[in-house]
Amino acid sequence: MQIIDGSALAKEIRSEVKTEVDKLKEQGVVPGLAVVLVGDDPASHAYVKMKSKACKEVGFYSIVHEMPDSVSQERIIETIKMMNQNPNIDGILVQLPLPGHIETEKILEVIDPKKDVDGFHPYNSGRLVNNLDSFVPCTPLGVMKMFDKYNIDLRGKDVVVVGASNIVGKPMASLLLNADATVTVTHIYTKDLKAHTQNADIVIVGVGKPGLITEDMVKEGAIVIDIGINRLENGKLTGDVAFDTVSPKCSYVTPVPGGVGPMTIAMLLQNTLDAAKMR
Ligand code: GUN
Repeated sequence: MQIIDGSALAKEIRSEVKTEVDKLKEQGVVPGLAVVLVGDDPASHAYVKMKSKACKEVGFYSIVHEMPDSVSQERIIETIKMMNQNPNIDGILVQLPLPGHIETEKILEVIDPKKDVDGFHPYNSGRLVNNLDSFVPCTPLGVMKMFDKYNIDLRGKDVVVVGASNIVGKPMASLLLNADATVTVTHIYTKDLKAHTQNADIVIVGVGKPGLITEDMVKEGAIVIDIGINRLENGKLTGDVAFDTVSPKCSYVTPVPGGVGPMTIAMLLQNTLDAAKMR
């Protein structure tokens, strides 16, 4: 069993990004990321803090535009339109989830697709489905980087993606299909999850349910990628996989923390750098 070390790989990528930023700065270009943060959800605040810190470390210009829970949809749209026009901003990220009275799709559609470093705009998700160049959502992109780093070939592999969100499951499935895997996507209405996962060469799970994937649900030698991040009552972070019992059966497995999480932020930096290069 080999642990896929997301922290180490993310560190490598961040250092590569920093080198590229230094070069861009010599040409007078400072990559810029603007984050829109609505409301006071503690998890969203924590993620945005980590993203801002990572931006500073690689030398990006970064701003966080905080708005209260009660903000109107129109106000958020105006703010994004201003960011679209701002030449110092290469990437725009709206931290999700948004409050219930806001129509998330309407907000995401306002972001200039060329600044859509989260890859959530339908223009980019459509291009991804068609296997065309696009901004790709950071978490699934980070998973693909892990496969690449560990020389895991996806062609013809049976992959089960557990969770069908626009942020993770759907783009993950597109990336895997584009890499010639045979892909099954399961979700809350799936009748028998185990019937799918137990035959899979690779299981990728990101639904936010601690211990969802148990040892009886994966085959010997499977590759298991855990995208879940859950905080237990004792304050500890854990994924969606019962790691202690599942990991001995795996050929490769990602830990939580230290697996996919750090890769998400590294990919955000990479996407923002790519956007800045297209200025
Ligand atoms: N909320 C949970 N994950 C993400 C993410 O990757 N990007 C944004 N913007 N919001 C999120």
